[in-house]
Amino acid sequence: EITKGINGLEKVILREIHGSSVEVYLYGAHVTSWKNDQGEELLFVSSKAIFKPPKPIRGGIPICFPQFSNLGPLEAHGFSRNRVWTIDLDPPAFPPNVNVTNRVYVDLLLKPTEEDLKIWPHSFEYRLRVTLGPAGDLMLTSRIRNTDGKPFTFTFAYHTYFSVSDISEVRVEGLETLDYLDNLKNRERYTEQGDAITFESEIDKIYLSTPTKIAILDHEKKRTFVVRKDGLPDAVVWNPWDKKAKAMADFGDDEYKHMLCVEAAAIEKPITLKPGEEWKGRQELSAVPSSYCSGQ
Ligand code: BG6
Repeated sequence: EITKGINGLEKVILREIHGSSVEVYLYGAHVTSWKNDQGEELLFVSSKAIFKPPKPIRGGIPICFPQFSNLGPLEAHGFSRNRVWTIDLDPPAFPPNVNVTNRVYVDLLLKPTEEDLKIWPHSFEYRLRVTLGPAGDLMLTSRIRNTDGKPFTFTFAYHTYFSVSDISEVRVEGLETLDYLDNLKNRERYTEQGDAITFESEIDKIYLSTPTKIAILDHEKKRTFVVRKDGLPDAVVWNPWDKKAKAMADFGDDEYKHMLCVEAAAIEKPITLKPGEEWKGRQELSAVPSSYCSGQ
């Protein structure tokens, strides 16, 4: 279903037969809502989010491409999150080994304009498939093809804002003992100590060579988000906390308590594509009652 969202921006709504749903804005190919079969919102979007180009939408799942953060000459997090994508009305089918029962999906496409080529002189074709599975799982698959005559290199992140009830009750499992670059300390390299990650102040870390599965446990909500990823070795964990929250015009002063970004990413080792080559990066999100995954 294609409809008009905030400020008349177009969005696609996918509904799964058991009641879960996803909303994707063509502006940024930006997922702004993911609801389970109870109608509960699982992603955080700021009440102050500005749905107006060229400002990226604060919350949901912005896509950072072709540059994560300010790690290069482009604007922060690249430009794909503030371009208007198109819908492929005749998308390719899933491979035959995929069970397509009760799957709903949409393919969004981005190709650089003449103006974009002045900013980043590389021609590419980016296909983002957003799929909602029968258990309400949200899958994002990016395929980026080099349609240029020369190689190019990029970094990437699915900048996912999870909705949590109280950040001080949240734990992240799967990143303990890993190396990370601390964005708050000039990206110096450290090693995470001890147990699961918990939160009591600002955090902005790029965990390196992370496992394919990361869990976010929301104790108060009794809900666990599971992030599964493929082709995306790194994971960014970000919460601005009170001071940075106040400094952001499109973020409420207290909203940091109710969100956590865990971002499947490829940052430390940028991806290089030769002419004609394609890269694939996949993130799969599920949300399950905590009691179901104890001991995992
Ligand atoms: C995170 C970065 O991924 O995104 C942070 O690690 C940054 O450094 C944050 O502040 C938000 O970025 P932006 O451009 O959406 O305000």
